Amino acid sequence: MVNKPLLLGLDVSTTGAKALLVDLKGQVVSSATMPLSLSTPRPLWSEQNPEDWWDGIVKSTRSALKKAGATGGDIAAVGLTGQMHGLVLLDENGAVLRPAMLWNDQRTADQCNTIRERLGKERLIQITGNDALTGFTAPKILWVQENEPEVYAQVRHILLPKDYIRYRLTDAFGMDRAGGAGTLLFDLKARTWSLEVLAALEIPADWLPPTFEGPDVTGLITAVAAQATGLSAGTPVVGGGGDQAAQATGVGAVEPGIIALTLGTSGVVFATTAAPLVEPEGRLHAFCHTVPDKWHFMGVMLSAAGSLQWYHDQIAPDMSFDELVNEAANVPPGSEGLFFMPYLSGERTPHPDPLARGAWIGLTLRHTRAHMTRAVLEGVAFGIKDSFTLIQEAGLGAVEQVRISGGGAKSPLWRQIMANVLGVELVTVNTTEGAAFGAALLAGVGAGLYASVGEACRAAIEMTGKTEPDADTAVYPAYYARYRALYPALAAEFAAISKLVE
Ligand code: XUL
Repeated sequence: MVNKPLLLGLDVSTTGAKALLVDLKGQVVSSATMPLSLSTPRPLWSEQNPEDWWDGIVKSTRSALKKAGATGGDIAAVGLTGQMHGLVLLDENGAVLRPAMLWNDQRTADQCNTIRERLGKERLIQITGNDALTGFTAPKILWVQENEPEVYAQVRHILLPKDYIRYRLTDAFGMDRAGGAGTLLFDLKARTWSLEVLAALEIPADWLPPTFEGPDVTGLITAVAAQATGLSAGTPVVGGGGDQAAQATGVGAVEPGIIALTLGTSGVVFATTAAPLVEPEGRLHAFCHTVPDKWHFMGVMLSAAGSLQWYHDQIAPDMSFDELVNEAANVPPGSEGLFFMPYLSGERTPHPDPLARGAWIGLTLRHTRAHMTRAVLEGVAFGIKDSFTLIQEAGLGAVEQVRISGGGAKSPLWRQIMANVLGVELVTVNTTEGAAFGAALLAGVGAGLYASVGEACRAAIEMTGKTEPDADTAVYPAYYARYRALYPALAAEFAAISKLVE
């Protein structure tokens, strides 16, 4: 029996368009995902077609409703989440002008320098909370300004991927503030667009949509969207949030002291702050949370479970992940001096370097595949510790709990290695549906079914397990110190190597 009303979370991720139906107790009623692919027409480029997102959302919503035996009238509200930072450009009629440039597009190194020059790095970080990174939205806008002036001349609206879906669902332009802060055009303290940054970059302010807190209602499903998706016209759509803030919401990391650690393709350490704190050198991202009047710090490692996926696919495609990972349990901590540098797609935190590369360091004849596997698991844990350490040094106060989620968190061995390297207890929760789950909870707050985001999390999220550091934890500080020394020793060589293959 399905307990109504239901909440719908929609997630436009890089790999799929997902629709998730949950009830008010947080029980997952149904879920459907339509796969998405990305195109890399040139080295460093990463693009998707917004029409494919819409098509995927339409199909996944219909499928989730059907699996649940639900109709549009059963849905109290819709919450949106999705990949952050992507640039969607629309003309005056709302037509898409060029393929969306995604968060992992790395073509904008020159434009990042321009932004730092125009505002000064310090001022940029003071206003936006962040340094200019190739993945962010603002440098992409400058890239189009410089390289595609005929496209730029037609731009009238700038949106993020999730907000393009909002536009198709409601006919309204709007953006959540977690996503807005990830554009590098936001005044972090004021939680709105920075006129100073927009003026310095010569971007008209009226191209940007109004912004909303995560639970705010931003519009209603239109008759056209209702016909396409099976939802009911008039259903409210809330602000929602960028995928990381929504993911943190979905595991209940909505108060200072609770850290969310996500081991997905990327690895994320996320800490809620009660004030708009900034890491002075911009080594951590500082964005608005989905929770009104809360902010967060975030460290992002680009290839976390993505490193293991790559390693599995290249080295042992015929083995199951469990078989491959379990071999590593018999290797001593520290992998007998073998290190893996997990920078397979460059890195963000703490080394914002698109040219960083992956590496094994310390190979000897003694090392086996099991050592290499363990080194991958440990290398990712060391990279996560880099972000964790920066967050601890940022003056947030005591860490009360670390909640781990994402595909990589399913492995008991990886969780144990992670707990040992970080030296903290890790907690798992009952919710494994990620950002879409957080978006659904925000929808419930917007529909007035929960009094606050905190109450929604208390109603829907429970702890299911703990992993405590064991005796191996004593081994890791010495190994971590060596890991920390590797990137500075190799950074110049990575840059030189990338010149060879330009
Ligand atoms: C966050 C980030 C990624 C993307 C894609 O800063 O770049 O999490 O949102 O998932």
